[in-house]
Amino acid sequence: MDRPRPMLRFCQAPMFNDRLDPLADYPFRKLAALLDPIQPVCNDAPVMLSVGEPQNQPPAFIKDVLSENAHLWNKYPPALATPAYRQAVADWLTMRYKLPAGFVDPDRNIVPVPGTREPLFMLALVAIPQSKGGGRPVVLMPSPSYHVYRGAAMAANAESVYLPATAESNFLPDPATVSKAVLDRTAICYLCTPSNPQGTMGDLAYLKSWIKLAREHDFVLAVDECYAEIYDVQPPSGALEACAALGDGPYGTAMDNVVVFHSLSKRSSAPGLRAGFMAGDARVMARYAELIGYACTPMPLPIVAAATAVWRDEAHVAVNQKMYRGNFDIATRLLDGKAGYFRPQAGFFLWLDVGDGEATCARLWKEAAIRTIPGAYMAVPDAKGVNPGAPYIRVALVYDNDVTEEALGRLARAL
Ligand SMILES: Cc1ncc(COP(=O)(O)O)c(C=O)c1O
Repeated sequence: MDRPRPMLRFCQAPMFNDRLDPLADYPFRKLAALLDPIQPVCNDAPVMLSVGEPQNQPPAFIKDVLSENAHLWNKYPPALATPAYRQAVADWLTMRYKLPAGFVDPDRNIVPVPGTREPLFMLALVAIPQSKGGGRPVVLMPSPSYHVYRGAAMAANAESVYLPATAESNFLPDPATVSKAVLDRTAICYLCTPSNPQGTMGDLAYLKSWIKLAREHDFVLAVDECYAEIYDVQPPSGALEACAALGDGPYGTAMDNVVVFHSLSKRSSAPGLRAGFMAGDARVMARYAELIGYACTPMPLPIVAAATAVWRDEAHVAVNQKMYRGNFDIATRLLDGKAGYFRPQAGFFLWLDVGDGEATCARLWKEAAIRTIPGAYMAVPDAKGVNPGAPYIRVALVYDNDVTEEALGRLARAL
């Protein structure tokens, strides 16, 4: 007897969540497709200025703290790390942003995270309702920007609204350009300051204007501050600093509607440690803490101990800052007057206007064995089909001064 055949609709049922199909657009996958078929024709050693991965070492004391706490590898990581970690973070925030004593409550305003990529993504699951302002929720984000904000919006079935982050607005999204109708539907607005890829930063007035909008329209302002500790002259302002300056107002108190993201990946050259925190609105922190028990990866205890020590140490940060300033000096000497060069205020990227970013990136790899990333891969075409990143390449100055001098010399000659 023939066995019953499975119903056709099961055969045709899609196996995958097609909402996530656009994630195949991952910038570094596109970069590999562009550059991997090309063989550099020069004899120089390849230099990877494409990825924002610091190449110097994190503080040496990390390995001692890890080994002193090695007996804790047999413990499941607690969702909120340890009171000592949260206190170290609260003290750091208070010191760094000159916050009033007691402004940050380590138990209510801080959630420890394994680097910031995961919480930037997972926030969407926590903060995007099924509908908002009578329609489909919106996620606002800069274009160009870090690809994770876009992925988060897609996963939560929200509409992504890309705000131009171009030279006209100091490469930051202008709050005045968003319509009331869109703001009413907004569930999250991602900002990045200091900005990746351009290295500009929003001042207190800028941050305050976004906070007011978030409170008026009741959305979460998610401010990615992971480059806050790498700056040229002026320490970047922070969104919690802006909250403290605003104080209580007609639309909310203290940290309402604001969440900031910080990480040891760039500050302390420790992307492999996977350590950071989110801080801000206690209601968002509580909701996020619930999600951790289901879907997130808390930091293992030996790593928590090491990261606690790293947040409490400033000496290595000063050494890193000196190295990055040296790289900016080299870039200014070799590139000033070329490809719209401007000295970044912060972060470690150059954002060069080369006309055709994709073609230049391919040429730099072929002729100089220098790997960069086309700006178009970090942005999305606007309503007119224009990709605001298309004329640019992003150059990550993640090596020491000697390697940077050599690599930028080659890049400058090839431009
Ligand atoms: C703007 C921005 N935000 C967040 C991250 C995530 O860093 P991590 O998960 O290492 O903290 C990166 C990493 O490159 C980044 O460039």
